[in-house]
Amino acid sequence: MLDISKMTEYTGPIKNDLDEFHRLLTDYLKDDSPLISSIARHLMKSRGKRIRPVFLFLSSRASNTFNEHSVEASLAIELIHTATLLHDDVVDESEMRRGQETVNSQWTNFISVLMGDYLFAKAFRVMIETSSLELVRAISLATERVSVGELRQIEETGNYDLSEEEYMSIIADKTASLFTVSCEAGPILTNSAVAERRRLAKFGEKIGTAFQIADDLLDFVGNAEDTGKEPGNDVMTGKMTLPMIYSLRKINKASRTEVIKSVDDSTDERSFEKIYNFVTETGGIEYAYNKAHDLSQQGLDSISKFEKSVYYESLFNMVKFTTARVA
Ligand code: IPE
Ligand code: IPE
Ligand code: MG
Ligand code: MG
Repeated sequence: MLDISKMTEYTGPIKNDLDEFHRLLTDYLKDDSPLISSIARHLMKSRGKRIRPVFLFLSSRASNTFNEHSVEASLAIELIHTATLLHDDVVDESEMRRGQETVNSQWTNFISVLMGDYLFAKAFRVMIETSSLELVRAISLATERVSVGELRQIEETGNYDLSEEEYMSIIADKTASLFTVSCEAGPILTNSAVAERRRLAKFGEKIGTAFQIADDLLDFVGNAEDTGKEPGNDVMTGKMTLPMIYSLRKINKASRTEVIKSVDDSTDERSFEKIYNFVTETGGIEYAYNKAHDLSQQGLDSISKFEKSVYYESLFNMVKFTTARVA
């Protein structure tokens, strides 16, 4: 039986693309200074899932829109993603990422921010290599959306009245944006029909949103060994995610005040456990899983007319992975 929690089971058909991606990445991060080299080594050691390149390659191959610039496009997007993580870990004061110390923790906040800028600059350079102004436009727009989402999220920290709609719009900006551009990169690079581009963009937007809901769920149900990040971080820093938004909506005013108080006071594992139990018992966890599942299904619906191929099959399984993953 397929183990849906492991992504490597579905990347076989694009192994060569991923190898090429890795070669180019290594090349781009070569020795600019001893400090940069050592951080680059740190980043390469625990390289992350590379899920955006995987979606880019599979979407392009499944829609016959892979071309000689696809690997550059994937690299630009992954560099931007990594840059946003370096900034995000400073913002969230996170100490663990991808199973090892964050750059801000092992080095300093300054270094993490500047290394993030360095990666953005590298991304511009590789993006230009695609010679596609339309792709540059789409990636720039996506990057802008990431910043908007991150800033909106900071604005809403500690807002226990955050609505589900607002939450959905924040995560679409901060996370789905890069999935969207990954999935539409093929049609953009090959100047395909607008309808084809729209279909894949919609697919990416739905999948990316489901991915972030699943990620937020892992903050409740995941463990550091698998995810490489400490659970409970969101709750304890006042970040409202879907399980909590739903559960707070389910209870009366008095219990709500009580729960909010325990969230405000939460500082350790025991207080997190209490909140975790509340969210589970009131159906918040289940609700968020169902929502992620529905969005994945909507994503799959938009590409259901694609010709069946090994790439399509892998893409289908990758969608299942985004909601069932443990890491
Ligand atoms: C982490 O993204 C940030 C989110 C948008 C949830 P990933 O889970 O893709 O991170 P890596 O690259 O695999 O570490
Ligand atoms: C992900 O945000 C970072 C961006 C999308 C820029 P989160 O703060 O939710 O993700 P993790 O938990 O740090 O990976
Ligand atoms: Mg964050
Ligand atoms: Mg974070």
